[in-house]
Amino acid sequence: MSTLGRPEGEYRSAQHEGTAMSTMPLTSPLIEMRDIHKAFHGVRAVEGVSLSVHPGEVVALLGHNGAGKSTLMKLLAGAFSIDSGEIKVAGEPVRLESPADSQRLGIETIYQTLALADNLDAVANLFLGRELRTRWGTLDDYAMEKAAREVFHRLNPNFKNIRVPVRSLSGGQRQVVAISRALYFNARALIMDEPCAALGPEETRMVHELVRTLKASGVGIFLITHDMPDVFGLSDRLSVMKNGKTVGTYRTADVTEDEVLGMIIGGRPLQRLAPL
Ligand SMILES: Nc1ncnc2c1ncn2[C@@H]1O[C@H](COP(=O)(O)OP(=O)(O)OP(=O)(O)O)[C@@H](O)[C@H]1O
Ligand SMILES: [Mg+2]
Repeated sequence: MSTLGRPEGEYRSAQHEGTAMSTMPLTSPLIEMRDIHKAFHGVRAVEGVSLSVHPGEVVALLGHNGAGKSTLMKLLAGAFSIDSGEIKVAGEPVRLESPADSQRLGIETIYQTLALADNLDAVANLFLGRELRTRWGTLDDYAMEKAAREVFHRLNPNFKNIRVPVRSLSGGQRQVVAISRALYFNARALIMDEPCAALGPEETRMVHELVRTLKASGVGIFLITHDMPDVFGLSDRLSVMKNGKTVGTYRTADVTEDEVLGMIIGGRPLQRLAPL
């Protein structure tokens, strides 16, 4: 049994025995997306995709440009609504029609673009749209700065320039600001879209560390990435998409890098191992 609540062999037993009972996960998923469809003016961006994440689990989402990864995650983030399918959070069917719906359920998103307001400082970005107020209804700058310092310090003790426009921060510091939202607002699930794409090796290491910290605290993480070190360094399971469909979902420990690259390019599941 792992300390993160995801027992070893949970999925493997399903492959080996193939009975209805053995496919029952021993921990229930935090998020379950089932048979999700989404089209934009006839373009089928997501077609019949099912994907779940458990508490303390990292699930990598892979696929070529246009595979539908960001769209699937935006459906979970409430940025778009699904055409059909079912989304459950902690076992309960939910309707996610706006980002506020998802955030209320503890689903936080770090978009590919980070979605930071460049001309505002790190504190303002942490609370963007969810500012703390005094009992007179005015912005509580003192409380926000105090809370922000604490959360930034937890993520990176060296990050001190929190009162300058985030435009002037490094890529890694901008990631800290984006990730701090998830931490401060007590995310249960976190969606990260290419978190290391624009970062150097040192900053990438730092983001990996942040992901491990969140994972250890029980957050379920969907990680969109093209990067094999991200996949093999961080994920418990991986799911490959192509042209809006799932190619296959596997335990990361059960597959090789070449096999993953082969599925991304070829769009076919592995021959030697049945998908989960
Ligand atoms: N808002 C939108 N309006 C119309 N079409 C869209 C929209 N968002 C995505 N699409 C289309 O849906 C498909 C899937 O796109 P999506 O952005 O989800 O892919 P992706 O896997 O995230 O790719 P990338 O790796 O390039 O980020 C593409 O054909 C894309 O053009
Ligand atoms: Mg994308």
